[in-house]
Amino acid sequence: MMEKKKSMNSETKINKDNILLSIQNASYQYSDAEEDEYALKNVSYDFEKGKVYAIRGRSGTGKTTLLSLISGLERCTEGSIVFDGKDLKDINLDYYRNHEIGIVFQSYNLLPFMTASENIILSMDASGIKIGNKKEEAIKLMKSVGLKETYANRKVLRISGGEQQRVAIARSLAYNPKMIVADEPTGNLDKQTEKEILEIFKKLAHEDGKCIIIVTHSPNVCESVDQVYDLKKVK
Ligand SMILES: Nc1ncnc2c1ncn2[C@@H]1O[C@H](COP(=O)(O)OP(=O)(O)O)[C@@H](O)[C@H]1O
Ligand SMILES: [Mg+2]
Repeated sequence: MMEKKKSMNSETKINKDNILLSIQNASYQYSDAEEDEYALKNVSYDFEKGKVYAIRGRSGTGKTTLLSLISGLERCTEGSIVFDGKDLKDINLDYYRNHEIGIVFQSYNLLPFMTASENIILSMDASGIKIGNKKEEAIKLMKSVGLKETYANRKVLRISGGEQQRVAIARSLAYNPKMIVADEPTGNLDKQTEKEILEIFKKLAHEDGKCIIIVTHSPNVCESVDQVYDLKKVK
């Protein structure tokens, strides 16, 4: 009897434990906004480990603002964002950004005159984590996103857009974050490459348990993720 009760409790708990990021009634006003002007108002979303999410919304609905809040670049002006049980208000946001969350951009944001592996190693160094053989680890990460070892020594400006986005994903994994946030990661890519990039994100979520949040306009992306959140314009 005791046993049964215990297992039921832990079952409900597992569900709750599975939530990595919880946005609770978050609102945001830019400092130059009118009193009743919100870039984001009363947004509440939960994000679980092991799932891929899409945030969809028309231009001006606050997608970029929401990503800045999630990635700890801005703090919400009302409500709260809770990561792994801790309110972002109460934690060191520099540490959070450099350890817990990886960011992938539409335009890749790699350093073009450095090699693919150098870009990844730069991110390892910035986070300050200890890695024995950084280059070996960078190559391992590159392989995990489908890039051949020979790409490690190639300058970023000599590889295609789709390959650059793979490098950017490998870079976002440099310090093994629990969550990856991507701002229109397939916005500059053709349909087939978009599909391949999505497969990488799905593998990271479904096999490695990461939480992936993608801001996107792409119907193809929305179709294949685990959950879509629609952001609506304030007012
Ligand atoms: N730096 C800023 N200062 C003031 N208002 C801003 C700023 N950035 C965005 N906004 C406003 O906040 C709202 C949401 O913008 P944004 O988050 O960029 O939306 P999206 O990424 O969905 O297009 C818009 O009304 C926009 O004009
Ligand atoms: Mg935007």
